Amino acid sequence: MQKKLRIGVLTSGGDAPGMNAAVRAIVLACKIQNFTCMGFSHGYNGLLDDETSILTSRHVNDVLRQGGTVLRSARCKGMLTPDGPKQAANTLLKQDIDALIVIGGDGSFRGMLEIEKHWDGLLVGLPGTIDNDLAFCDKTIGFATAVQTACDAIDKIRDTANAFERVFIVEVMGRHSGHIAFHVGLATGAEAILSFENFDVASTQSIVDELSQQILKQQHDKHSSFLIVLAENLWPNGPEALKKALKVKANIESGICILGHIQRGGSPIAEDRLLASKLGLAAVDACINGSHRVMLGELNGEVIKTDLEQTIKQHKPVSPFWVTAHKNVLKGFI
Ligand code: F6P
Repeated sequence: MQKKLRIGVLTSGGDAPGMNAAVRAIVLACKIQNFTCMGFSHGYNGLLDDETSILTSRHVNDVLRQGGTVLRSARCKGMLTPDGPKQAANTLLKQDIDALIVIGGDGSFRGMLEIEKHWDGLLVGLPGTIDNDLAFCDKTIGFATAVQTACDAIDKIRDTANAFERVFIVEVMGRHSGHIAFHVGLATGAEAILSFENFDVASTQSIVDELSQQILKQQHDKHSSFLIVLAENLWPNGPEALKKALKVKANIESGICILGHIQRGGSPIAEDRLLASKLGLAAVDACINGSHRVMLGELNGEVIKTDLEQTIKQHKPVSPFWVTAHKNVLKGFI
């Protein structure tokens, strides 16, 4: 007979739209199996402080369309101390947990690998971050919504930029990866995308020279706006420094818009709700099958399991197709 499992779940690191859909699927799958689902609040802090509650279908009623995370999240400093992971493991033992499902990014997965040193239950990770910077999955939970949110905002910026034929530098999130920058830049027809894939710190001056030429030509030929989508943490000293460099080089005035946390919030789009629901169900199946220290991701429509350690070691590059396509054709001017 199938053992009645006690499954723990937490959301960790930057919240991502769709995390609630994953939690909902896990809770509902546990209910069908007659398992106990325990939610730990505030990311790994919930494990360190034993902040836990039994989750029932009542708790996940109507959360599918909500952004953020009903379990709350955190970047837990305690997990980086030598005692943190041990303390987390003690709570798992005390609560008699058989399997822990963590929804988060690579930092959250590192936390799982530390807990593994002190606890022999099952560990299952689901990729949840707007940055899409985890390999072994086509998209992370939250990425598609963040891209859509940024596109909606940039379309609005485009309207006002067009009206004044202005240049705008729009900074998008992504931490140290360019997935958001490229997808958003391409989907909004940005004239320039500055991201990790096409930027070399040593050549900022030549980039400013090239950009200035393009902007002046665009303004002369087409009398229209010019949007630069800039990945955060890329340009030395940030968008202000780029703005200043354009002014110094060619007397080009530009506006700056930092989209920031608007990209993390909002109701998940259907794609994220479905992805998160699929992975949530697969996570409970993985617990039933005894899968351990795996991340579940969707690749070409299939849910695949990858060893957690591999997921934090491997870099996921932005598709070279898109990088080249923007450079050669899609930037929209010649
Ligand atoms: O990892 C998600 C993310 O939103 C990154 O894109 C961004 O760099 C970072 O988190 C911001 O973190 P915080 O919300 O802690 O400022």
